[in-house]
Amino acid sequence: MIAVSSQTTAMDLFCMESRPDPCGVVIFGASGDLAKRKLLPALFGLYHRELIPREFFVLGCARTEMTDEDFREHVLDAIRSSEEASEEDRRAFAQRCYYVSGDYKTQSLYAALSRRIRRLEIDHGTGGNRIFYFSLPPALYGDVAWRLGRQKLTKQTSDTLCWRRVIVEKPLGYDLDSAVALNRHLQRELDERQIYRIDHYLGKDTVQNILMFRFANAIFEPLWNRRYVDHVQITVAESVGVEHRAGYFEETGLLRDMFQNHMLQMLAMVAMEPPSSFDADRVRDEKSKLLRSIRQFQADELDRWIIRGQYGPGRVEDKDLPGYRNEPGVAPDSHVETYAAMRILIDNWRWQGVPFYLRSGKRLARRVSEIALTFKSVPHSIFVPILPEQLAPNTLVLNVQPEEGMSLTIQAKRPGPKLCMSALTMHFSYREAFGGELRDAYERLLLDCMLGNQTLFTRSDNIELAWGLLTPVLKAWQEAPANGTSVPLCTYEAGGWGPKESDKLLRDDGRRWRKP
Ligand code: NDP
Ligand code: BG6
Repeated sequence: MIAVSSQTTAMDLFCMESRPDPCGVVIFGASGDLAKRKLLPALFGLYHRELIPREFFVLGCARTEMTDEDFREHVLDAIRSSEEASEEDRRAFAQRCYYVSGDYKTQSLYAALSRRIRRLEIDHGTGGNRIFYFSLPPALYGDVAWRLGRQKLTKQTSDTLCWRRVIVEKPLGYDLDSAVALNRHLQRELDERQIYRIDHYLGKDTVQNILMFRFANAIFEPLWNRRYVDHVQITVAESVGVEHRAGYFEETGLLRDMFQNHMLQMLAMVAMEPPSSFDADRVRDEKSKLLRSIRQFQADELDRWIIRGQYGPGRVEDKDLPGYRNEPGVAPDSHVETYAAMRILIDNWRWQGVPFYLRSGKRLARRVSEIALTFKSVPHSIFVPILPEQLAPNTLVLNVQPEEGMSLTIQAKRPGPKLCMSALTMHFSYREAFGGELRDAYERLLLDCMLGNQTLFTRSDNIELAWGLLTPVLKAWQEAPANGTSVPLCTYEAGGWGPKESDKLLRDDGRRWRKP
């Protein structure tokens, strides 16, 4: 266990950002699930902890008819469970929330929005700074951006003193072509510096910590390469099934849902070269370089590199769980994958020959996300008769969730007169070290957008490179929808650790999956 040093003083805390400008946040799709579960609570969290100025308002927009008062009730409902805040604080926040209803495809909505926004900007003194949050079905993004542009609501020129930014949610495209088309559409209306493509994994403290860990400490970087690292495993396991999102998931599948964004972004953070500064474009340049260095999958030998699976029925803690095909809204003969695992090779000097194994799935044994670097064995053992390969290798695990922290496994002598060695794990827990709950990723990302910091948002080339890697795989799977011999859809038991075929990916290399 490691604690933050009791010597820690304010001098040791280096906080790199200032308070954002006053602004108004316009949420399209304000009646929806994301707004209620994530966006409104995150905005309230920022407001309540005074991380944003009081000169601030939220304008909800959707087709559902609501008055300002109805929307305020909706807001209060969304932030009701917010821990330490007082009822007075919640009501003060709700009073800053307003609502406009209308059809997203009709210009009159934008004219009404324009009038309302200009009035609210005067009333709340926000100086014309605006965020438009697209919490909508992505098919609407292009049209909404175009109509906002027509109404000059997103207009920002170098001589305007205020800023206008747009946050877009995933999925950003369905494959490479659609992602390119969406990027072009958005870029026709907006400058790339106005577009904030959200990947909520990048807002998680432990994912951001990868950068601090690698680039604010001198001792790890010399080891962070093919000379010392044997292999890397990235796991994002969920215990939940498809839940109420069958409609979305049947169209998407796990590769699009988790790999194109979260998994490849985490891989990029772990494997990229050091950026020259913490500037958004320098970080994103390095990510793109890394994504470009990933060896492309060959369509005729996909099964050697990627495994896909779908959960069947299972039993967890005396509870029977349905298989994916028996979930409400799922086709009884669905071929959609709920699990994927892959071996990735990176063709550059740092990582040549070091495999990165990535896996993610629904209805796995437990919810856990981690990045584990396994180091090479010692070159020679002086502890005869113990052979080097008999010593458990050093492993560094960055625990993303739910137990945020990190651990390092080393060999140590056991106490006592005999010469016995044993693996010892040093563990650092965020919660114990820093106390309190970690904040939701959406708070961090909304704050960054207000600060104009795009470091944790994905740039168009990052997105297209990720799609470029996965699109041939998706195409091959689509062309072999049934259990085609080259790319079978393996079944796994709900509540287990995925299809046994995925073990082969590592077994062929003389390795195995960690038990997180
Ligand atoms: P919802 O399905 O709840 O839709 C959001 C809002 O969009 C609805 O309240 C609805 O408002 C409007 N809407 C829905 N369907 C249509 C349609 N066909 N035509 C016009 N308007 C429509 O989605 P979520 O809130 O779950 O997600 C919003 C965005 O965020 C999506 O892009 C989603 O992929 C993404 N996302 C969501 C996550 C989540 O946890 N929910 C996680 C990650 C990303 P109204 O009918 O009132 O206009
Ligand atoms: C979302 C996916 O992006 O991430 C979901 O669409 C998934 O399918 C979720 O459940 C996982 O996020 P978290 O933060 O719960 O690990």
